[in-house]
Amino acid sequence: MLAELDTIEGEALQALADASDSPAIEAWRIEWLGTKGRLKGLMGRMKDVEPGDRPAFGQRVNALKQSLNAAFEQRQAASSKAASGPPMDVTEPGEPMGLGRRHIISRTIAEILEVFARMGFEPATGPEVEDEWHNFTALNVPEDHPARAPIDNFYLEGGGMLRSQTSTVQIRVLEQTPPPVRIVAAGRVYRPDTHDATHYSMFHQVEGLYVDRGVTLVDLKATLLGFAHAYFGEAAEVRMRPSYFPFTEPSAEVDMKMRIKDRWQWVELGGCGMVDPNVLTAVGVDPEEFTGFAFGLGVERIAMRKYGIADIRWLYENDARFLRQF
Ligand code: DAH
Repeated sequence: MLAELDTIEGEALQALADASDSPAIEAWRIEWLGTKGRLKGLMGRMKDVEPGDRPAFGQRVNALKQSLNAAFEQRQAASSKAASGPPMDVTEPGEPMGLGRRHIISRTIAEILEVFARMGFEPATGPEVEDEWHNFTALNVPEDHPARAPIDNFYLEGGGMLRSQTSTVQIRVLEQTPPPVRIVAAGRVYRPDTHDATHYSMFHQVEGLYVDRGVTLVDLKATLLGFAHAYFGEAAEVRMRPSYFPFTEPSAEVDMKMRIKDRWQWVELGGCGMVDPNVLTAVGVDPEEFTGFAFGLGVERIAMRKYGIADIRWLYENDARFLRQF
């Protein structure tokens, strides 16, 4: 029996030496060292050995196991070295990995939401495919209003439309949540504009809405100023110019003073106003009890002025050489 073990060892080592590639080496490992391998089989034969010879047999099988394991490891190391070709130069500089990054518009939105979050505005969302109720009717836009014109909107076959403004989210939220509500909603809006340096058929807005008892125009201005200071710096200012929107009364356009190439400039960012009582009534909120303000800011405008981007189309061409800069 012991002599047989010597023959077996020779046979195993020869087979290993004959294994020419790594699949063959692996097959050898399974045959000899595997859980159902021949080595395990030998151990099982202990009971056939004379009781007196058992310790010697056990030692010999253990030695065989060590010898085969060592031979296997050596063979495997040699084979993987051979397979990998010339030795690797570990001092060679690495290839830079093309790391992705967030799009400049996504980052701008995240920053804006974060500033408003600090002022107590919770993030809200609404669908991009909307109905006319949320995009117009509930926002006090009359049936014959030019903003509804088919050439100014993406109406969908079979009804509905792509929202043209994030003001839709005001309605979505107020339908679900009784005041007080203080939300900020960022997202895509769609208008069939001809593409040029400042127009694109899809862009982003950030909408704010605050409805509670006793909300006034002063709160609106303080909120916008608070945002301007936090986002554009302490020297930023806010200017409101009287304007008209169907869903606010009074309404204003918002300009913010921001630093562009070391000069402070007024930039028109969007619209705002006190929520029109008709809007509150449309969503079942009593305008005698509650008042509110709303605003809508253009995200591309903010980002383009802040980062000196001259053409809105560059934002959506997905040219990595452009996007990498931010
Ligand atoms: N929805 C308007 C637009 O797209 C912007 C706007 C104006 C939003 C006044 C408002 C607002 O919330 O109060 O032009």
